[in-house]
Amino acid sequence: MSNSDKVETLRWVGDVDGHLVLIDQTLLPVDFQEIECKSVEQVWEAIKQLRVRGAPAIGIAAAYGVCIGLQSASDKAGLQSRLNKSIDYLATSRPTAVNLFWALDRMKAKAGLLQGESVASIQEALLKEARAIHDEDREMCHAIGRYGAALLEDGNGVLTHCNAGGLATAEYGTALSVFFTAQDEGKSLRVFVDETRPLLQGARLTAWELSRRDIDATLICDSMAAQVMREGKVQAVITGADRIAANGDSANKIGTYSIAVLARAHEIPFYIAAPSSTFDLAIANGNEIPIEERSSEEITHGFGRQTAPTGVKVYNPAFDVTPAEFIKAIITERGLIDPVSEANIRQVLGRV
Ligand code: MRU
Repeated sequence: MSNSDKVETLRWVGDVDGHLVLIDQTLLPVDFQEIECKSVEQVWEAIKQLRVRGAPAIGIAAAYGVCIGLQSASDKAGLQSRLNKSIDYLATSRPTAVNLFWALDRMKAKAGLLQGESVASIQEALLKEARAIHDEDREMCHAIGRYGAALLEDGNGVLTHCNAGGLATAEYGTALSVFFTAQDEGKSLRVFVDETRPLLQGARLTAWELSRRDIDATLICDSMAAQVMREGKVQAVITGADRIAANGDSANKIGTYSIAVLARAHEIPFYIAAPSSTFDLAIANGNEIPIEERSSEEITHGFGRQTAPTGVKVYNPAFDVTPAEFIKAIITERGLIDPVSEANIRQVLGRV
């Protein structure tokens, strides 16, 4: 793949008075369109509506959203109030991915160190911080790819769920970074892509990303994973995560838990690939992870057509939690957490 084929999930255009540009992921794979976000409300809406989605990308977008929020401040009091309001508001967009809160906390902490500075220099320093969050994510994704690719062999069949690719991060992805890196190392893989009901991130986004890179990708309905495993076509499962508790319990897109259970039943290793920004060591286990519930229309009127009786009762949790015991290892930018235990997590992340 040439550099000109690379997609930029999000980018900042200009200086402190600039704006955020995002690929509108709700339109893929049919239309490739970018949108400009010039207000905090537009960034909030883009996160809420999944125009930008995936835990790391949400965090990066929110960090730039804070910079947009500060643009109208003319004095220090105004700046402080805009900072708090923007951060509190962006934090209400989606509850599960901890990267959002991690990035907002980081922006707040940076501002806290700059109390004595002028409005202009705080605005500049916070844009620099948002750019650093963006750049560091890119580095983390490549490092995850290097650690993860060592787990795969030429000719392996692998399965993934949802989209943990370049579109979900600054670039390259987490789970997909493992596949891209394996390919760069000359290993050829056969990737089974769960379509990922109800919003089809697998079908719309992962299949798109893999085919752009000429990786052998086969789309399946989520309910077909057991049969594909039973046929011996899958040697490893790798997904991303939205929040990992201190004991390793991992929240990811709804359906991930069932894939992990199926992998266990077929003695296939199940891996999570995630950067350190996805760990929430303040919570002991997965029971404390807030699970986003989304609108019933996503299930009853998926992509414009009514597919369920009017008024039917619907439950639509957007994420589930895979207990640590089902996870063979977590692939991070600092190395493998294997086996998954609180002690190992703290040791690998350097947060003992
Ligand atoms: O609802 P989404 O599309 O934001 O859910 C995304 C996922 O579940 C991803 O697997 C996760 O955020 C990891 S992205 C590297």
